[in-house]
Amino acid sequence: MTLAEAESLLEEWVTAPSLRRHCRCVASALRHEATRQGAENLQEWEIAGLLHDFDYESHPDQHPAPGLAHLAELGVSPFIRQAIAAHVSVEVARQGSALDRALFACDELCGFLTAVAAVRPSKSILEVEPASVMKKLKTPAFAAAVSREDVAAGAELMGRTLEQHVTLTLEALRADAVPLGLGPS
Ligand SMILES: [Fe+2]
Repeated sequence: MTLAEAESLLEEWVTAPSLRRHCRCVASALRHEATRQGAENLQEWEIAGLLHDFDYESHPDQHPAPGLAHLAELGVSPFIRQAIAAHVSVEVARQGSALDRALFACDELCGFLTAVAAVRPSKSILEVEPASVMKKLKTPAFAAAVSREDVAAGAELMGRTLEQHVTLTLEALRADAVPLGLGPS
């Protein structure tokens, strides 16, 4: 599967702009992680990000099984499918590949970072600083749907402190702010 094919699949299965953007944010974060780790298959990392939630809108209760079945039919690599299967469980991700761990680690945090950007006056991720993210992570009422436990577990999976993980993931989204629709409005 090419990146363009993954993009088409995302647009075909997901209509909500917010979920599309979430998938693109996670893809961006993973591309930066892959580069940082010197991975050779950058595109596979990015595709895993783009498609990790692509069946969520149509199958919220069975996610990610229906999407995985479709990706298997399309001949998508086991490396990508395994990461998507693993991203719903920290225990599974812990025992998997570097991509499995990174997908788990970026998923909830990307959702949180876009929630922080949304309350900035400009709605831009460029205005978000690690310190304000750390503060909001300690405010349970803010973006309450984001599991702080999963965010913390993700940092641990990456072998980083929470602040390091926030800073690096934020850097990735800031680098892609405009294409992600997270630039100044
Ligand atoms: Fe996600």
